[in-house]
Amino acid sequence: MFIVQVGALLIALIYYANAQTSVVAVNTTIPGSELSANGLRQLAAAVVPQSPVFHPSLRSQFSLNLLSAFPEDLEVSDYCVALLAIFGQRYSTYVNCLVPAARPVKVCQNCYGTYGNLMEIYKNISDQMGPGNVSCRDSLLRSDRLMLVFLLYSNLEDIWTASECNRCVSLTHHSLTNDTLYFMATLNQSLSCFEKYQKQGNHSELCTECKATYRGLNELYSRMEKNHTLCIDIEDSMNMTRILWSKKFNCSFPRAETVPVIAVSSFMLFLPIIFYLSSFLHSEQKKRKLIHRE
Ligand SMILES: *[C@@H]1O[C@H](CO)[C@@H](O)[C@H](O)[C@H]1NC(C)=O
Ligand SMILES: *[C@@H]1O[C@H](CO)[C@@H](O)[C@H](O)[C@H]1NC(C)=O
Ligand SMILES: *[C@@H]1O[C@H](CO)[C@@H](O)[C@H](O)[C@H]1NC(C)=O
Ligand SMILES: *[C@@H]1O[C@H](CO)[C@@H](O)[C@H](O)[C@H]1NC(C)=O
Ligand SMILES: *[C@@H]1O[C@H](CO)[C@@H](O)[C@H](O)[C@H]1NC(C)=O
Ligand SMILES: *[C@@H]1O[C@H](CO)[C@@H](O)[C@H](O)[C@H]1NC(C)=O
Ligand SMILES: *[C@@H]1O[C@H](CO)[C@@H](O)[C@H](O)[C@H]1NC(C)=O
Ligand SMILES: *[C@@H]1O[C@H](CO)[C@@H](O)[C@H](O)[C@H]1NC(C)=O
Ligand SMILES: *[C@@H]1O[C@H](CO)[C@@H](O)[C@H](O)[C@H]1NC(C)=O
Repeated sequence: MFIVQVGALLIALIYYANAQTSVVAVNTTIPGSELSANGLRQLAAAVVPQSPVFHPSLRSQFSLNLLSAFPEDLEVSDYCVALLAIFGQRYSTYVNCLVPAARPVKVCQNCYGTYGNLMEIYKNISDQMGPGNVSCRDSLLRSDRLMLVFLLYSNLEDIWTASECNRCVSLTHHSLTNDTLYFMATLNQSLSCFEKYQKQGNHSELCTECKATYRGLNELYSRMEKNHTLCIDIEDSMNMTRILWSKKFNCSFPRAETVPVIAVSSFMLFLPIIFYLSSFLHSEQKKRKLIHRE
């Protein structure tokens, strides 16, 4: 009888302990997920001057409790933990911007601002000294084999590089370049023209009415190609417009200006032949005259 009672007591105790830990675990995650970027920045500014202050709610979100028992120099400072949280938020904001901008491609136009923010916080982590001469470079970027923060960032950087967005965005990442805006406006003219004449089943009117703006767009595009000011957004929208023009509307490419070029150059090609032919005929005539005199 006694043994059964002890057993029941033990089981109750274990159950109670489990219930306790699960409640604690739930409560600690809730406040962390609600931190805003602004809140964190304020926290980072507030925490660092009085650095030894311990912040259980923030810390438990990012590190095992064991780590707080590590020696001072192996610990990640509160400032760096706050930077890491801001990095995480800006990272997901950028990725959330990228995915819907994948098709039709608008990754440069739509996401340059969020990329600029991400770059800025990564720079704080990698180069800059925080208040109190704290640098997060070693603690966040190179303390382990995986180097996750570095890896995540460099993947996004590769996407930015491959899309050539730098060519369309100002150096400060605050605006698109004027060339890009001008291209977009010209593209809009062509697309508006297409929209206007698209309704008729017979597209021959569209082909004649929109030919001028479409040709202008093509010329602008090839000038920009020479200037190296094309990024993926522009390349893709031009590609789509060309496919619309030739496949969907079945218009021929406006080659009006190439006809005279071909005429003149073929005339030039025949010049030597005409020259030899005429001199040959001329010499034949002379020969004949000579024969007549003999
Ligand atoms: C957990 O949070 C809830 C509300 O968020 C609160 O009512 C409850 O008392 C908390 N439990 C503990 C153990 O702090
Ligand atoms: C990042 O660094 C810049 C320049 O040093 C500073 O103005 C900014 O407040 C820093 N950001 C954070 C979150 O510490
Ligand atoms: C931070 O470092 C600079 C130079 O490295 C030094 O002049 C300054 O006194 C340091 N500040 C603190 C608070 O340690
Ligand atoms: C871009 O255009 C705006 C307004 O048209 C002008 O104020 C600005 O100076 C231009 N920037 C460059 C780099 O040409
Ligand atoms: C062109 O721009 C105007 C005004 O900016 C806008 O209302 C219109 O929807 C655009 N047209 C296309 C085809 O993007
Ligand atoms: C399209 O319509 C124009 C007049 O609007 C007409 O001259 C032309 O023959 C038509 N083309 C075809 C392929 O039906
Ligand atoms: C190409 O670059 C030159 C000088 O850098 C500039 O004057 C010209 O406007 C550019 N053309 C286009 C289409 O951007
Ligand atoms: C243009 O679009 C076609 C069909 O969508 C695609 O196969 C091709 O790779 C695109 N070309 C460029 C330069 O993006
Ligand atoms: C496009 O035009 C050509 C002749 O110009 C014709 O043979 C072809 O069937 C047309 N295609 C479509 C999809 O209208």
